Amino acid sequence: MKTDRSDILACLRGSGDYVSGQQLCERLGVSRTAVWKVINQLKAEGYRIESVSRRGYRLVESPEDVLSEGEIVSRLNTTWAGRTLYYREETGSTNNDAKRCGEEGDPHGTVVAADIQNAGKGRRGRGWQTIPGTALSFSILLRPSFPAERASMITLVMALAVAEAVEAALDGNMSVRIKWPNDIVINRRKVCGMLTEMTMTPELDEIQYLVVGVGINVNNESLQEFQEEIRDTATSLRIEAGRRINRAALLGDVLGRFEKYYQTFLETLDMSRLRETYQARLQGLGNEVRVLDPAGEYTGVSRGINDRGELIVERESGERVAVYAGEVSVRGLYGYV
Ligand code: BTN
Repeated sequence: MKTDRSDILACLRGSGDYVSGQQLCERLGVSRTAVWKVINQLKAEGYRIESVSRRGYRLVESPEDVLSEGEIVSRLNTTWAGRTLYYREETGSTNNDAKRCGEEGDPHGTVVAADIQNAGKGRRGRGWQTIPGTALSFSILLRPSFPAERASMITLVMALAVAEAVEAALDGNMSVRIKWPNDIVINRRKVCGMLTEMTMTPELDEIQYLVVGVGINVNNESLQEFQEEIRDTATSLRIEAGRRINRAALLGDVLGRFEKYYQTFLETLDMSRLRETYQARLQGLGNEVRVLDPAGEYTGVSRGINDRGELIVERESGERVAVYAGEVSVRGLYGYV
């Protein structure tokens, strides 16, 4: 039943015009009654579907922001990213789920998305809050054949995809920046964080799989919804744009862009072909930053990234240091950016 539902939605959305009941039955190999049931179910969920005798069904309007398997699948325009998709209303952490998929043999590009995470994970062992009905939380499983030292660049690749998709969702009206390496920032506040986890083969000589997890604050209405610790630095797309954003459409767009940039990355296995595009969005380029290195903090001027995706920081002495993402984080001199 679930698959019929996404397939019917995809057919209606893809056509943009009337699709006859007969066509739907033939294309999906289901009975008229099954089609009719799904159409009624969709209507009950808030989809406006016109039924005209002898012409069929036409999708007039979708509810503003439904996150469901059907909604996501019907918006996918990819070859491999998200083609195996698990949608969960509630889970612990989509990263953990995607790692399980990695163990169980799911294919490259498998995506796990959820409305609620009750044990979402942030970077450096911190938690990640997801508020029901507002966040876009998903993880993608990758099975690359490149060496492990290249893996940290994949989050920069994802950051590019997310930043572009977010900007498009806001109709290009806002400048969406990347705070190195992969926080997405609007008006100096964070709207998205990413967590990449790598699992090596038992011999430890190859990547078995990578999981890139993305959490976007989409439809939070006010800053009060965020935990106190992040209220001064976080925001949501809705707060910035003043309107709701469709999470399924946003996910589809992110995956499409990610697939494209991942392909470009594979051509050189570094950021050389993506460096300029990334740098054009880099928050604080040319500004003074504080590098929080466990071996000792220092300040310098951000000079962009190199081909390995490291941040180049020019210290007062003129020395240029390449900062590797791992354990280090970078802040503006007076706060988060
Ligand atoms: C950060 O600390 O900035 C990283 C946050 C990453 C959150 C996402 S939400 C989807 C995926 N599942 C998780 O448990 N974490 C990541």
